[in-house]
Order: sequence, then C-alpha cells, then structure tokens
Amino acid sequence: EGVSTISLKVNGTVRTIRAEPRVTLLDALREYLDLTGSKKGCDHGQCGACTVLVDGRRVNSCLTLAIMSQGKEITTIEGLAKENGELHPMQAAFLKHDGFQCGYCTPGQIMSAVACVKEGHAGSEAEVREWMSGNLCRCSAYPNITAAILEAKG
Ligand code: FES
Repeated sequence: EGVSTISLKVNGTVRTIRAEPRVTLLDALREYLDLTGSKKGCDHGQCGACTVLVDGRRVNSCLTLAIMSQGKEITTIEGLAKENGELHPMQAAFLKHDGFQCGYCTPGQIMSAVACVKEGHAGSEAEVREWMSGNLCRCSAYPNITAAILEAKG
C-alpha cells in the first residue's frame, strides 16, 4: 500500500522501481538503483553534491521526486564516460587540473560543470564561478575547478 511503480530512464536505460511517491530522485538513484556516484551532502538543496542532469538541465536530485522524473532523460556521473572507459572531456579536465581533494563533491561539481558549458555559461571565469556557486567544496578546490571548466569548454 502506498507504493508506486516508477520507471526511470537513467543513462540511457529504463529501469523500474517500486517505491513510495515521496522518494526523491537522489534516493531512487542511490538506494534503489545502486548508482551511488551522486552524493547526499545536505539533502535539502544547499550543497550541490547530488546534481544530475534531467533532460540536459542540472537539478538537485535531493529536491526532485523520482516519480516526477518519469519520461525524462536522467544522466548521472556514471553515464558520462564512454563504455570503453574513455573519460568525458570534463572528467579529464578535472583530473588534469586537480579539481578536487577529498572528491566527495566531485560528481555533483562535474555534472554542474557539464551543464555550465552546455547551457553557455562558461564565457568567463566570473560567469563560471557564478554558475558553480551552488556546488560547495569543503576542501575549497574552487580555483582548480574553474580552471578545469574553462579548459574543457575548449
Ligand atoms: Fe542535494 Fe545537498 S544533497 S543539494
């Protein structure tokens, strides 16, 4: 009772879970689909660690209900690299520029960074910093993250 069948298209594959309608997209990914790349930093929209793309736009998956994400294309950090293991250019740029220290915020940073370039907000360092301001990094790797994004935008 109170459990719904929810179909989610994640990284190109449709997967079905049985969960209560109140389950967030973040919990659906992590707890039901074992996609633990997206992190739960705060669970209330303040840190960006849970950032994923929904129909190409970034969202905080902790603020999104799984049931509302049906019929949409969800992309997580697990879906960025090619199947042969070749990294997405943004992942490669983060590695090159040491855009992380402990790494906990990195999946969210990278998803936000991908959206930054895709949506045309990487025109300058200031613009990148503004766009990325919702993704917190306790290690304060911000300068390196910004450098990685400016390089990856090509
Ligand atoms: Fe979603 Fe912090 S876990 S914004």
